[in-house]
Amino acid sequence: MCPVLSGPYLLMIEKINELMTRVASLQASSAEEVEQLRVQYLSKKGEISLLFNDFRNVPAEQKREVGQKINELKTLATDRIAELREAVEAKDEADREAGIDLTRTATPLPGGTRHPLNLVKAQMLDIFARMGFTIADGPEVEDDWHVFSALNFAADHPARDMQDTFFIARNPADVLLRTHTSSVQTRTMEKAQPPIRIVCPGRVYRNEAISARAHCFFHQIEGLYIDRNVSFADLRQVLLLFARQMFGPETKIRLRPSYFPFTEPSAEMDISCNICGGKGCGFCKQTGWVEILGCGMVDPAVLEACGIDSKEYTGYAFGMGVERITNLKYRVKDLRMFSENDVRFLDEFIAAK
Ligand code: PHE
Repeated sequence: MCPVLSGPYLLMIEKINELMTRVASLQASSAEEVEQLRVQYLSKKGEISLLFNDFRNVPAEQKREVGQKINELKTLATDRIAELREAVEAKDEADREAGIDLTRTATPLPGGTRHPLNLVKAQMLDIFARMGFTIADGPEVEDDWHVFSALNFAADHPARDMQDTFFIARNPADVLLRTHTSSVQTRTMEKAQPPIRIVCPGRVYRNEAISARAHCFFHQIEGLYIDRNVSFADLRQVLLLFARQMFGPETKIRLRPSYFPFTEPSAEMDISCNICGGKGCGFCKQTGWVEILGCGMVDPAVLEACGIDSKEYTGYAFGMGVERITNLKYRVKDLRMFSENDVRFLDEFIAAK
């Protein structure tokens, strides 16, 4: 650099060069930041305006050069800041068009609820899982053998009537919607040898007129236990434990003789009415008892039909409706509510998670 040049000139040139570099790489991500930069560099008291003050001390012969450089710097800063302003405005505009307003408070997302039938089903399965039952699954579209014939239904049994069962095809093999999940038990027995200890949850279909008390589909959980020396006392004990865990430790059970083609002996089980505690109320029709399930010892003919030796093994089975158990817990008066998907009804179960 030329040694005769005096101090103020050099200082100015250095300062201007430094500012040039800084200004060329200015960045801003919002309109506020752009405005701050404008004030810092271009306002009356900004860094570039202040250079004009020092300009007075520059020797006359260098004034022209320095003046030009300052003007260059000013143009550079003005252009750079205008460029940044355009960029942030374009980005704001794009966000607005995309519907993104980052300053808006978030819209609360309504949380869903678990369906009451699923809540109760999960609770029921959990109780049986703790007693050693595993879950078995099977098709809803079934054939006559797995739903009826293997389960000892007589050829002229009324359940086989069109009035009770939805048939999909009559010939060559009957195809129908299962009327109970006992068909899953048939399938399990065909595939496995005892010990078998399963619960079969699932949807079943019956040809009923839809009303507050009946529907053309509902949900069941059926249970099956087959092993050596399984007795009716085992069945009773498992059902008692289930009833007490589901409805409270004070719950009593009673078994009444009944009939099912696939069990012998067969029974229906009542629990002490959990609404009046057994004293008698409108819900239990003043009897103090409400029916919750069917059960019995698996008929030896069923074991044989499924390839299990009935001389060596015995077993019990039971089946119940999830809707019925849910009604007893939550007193849902109209069965149709379960399948109407009315969120006002479903929201009532938010706390029941
Ligand atoms: N499958 C019977 C029904 O759907 C219930 C049941 C299951 C009864 C097992 C006895 C034993 O009604």
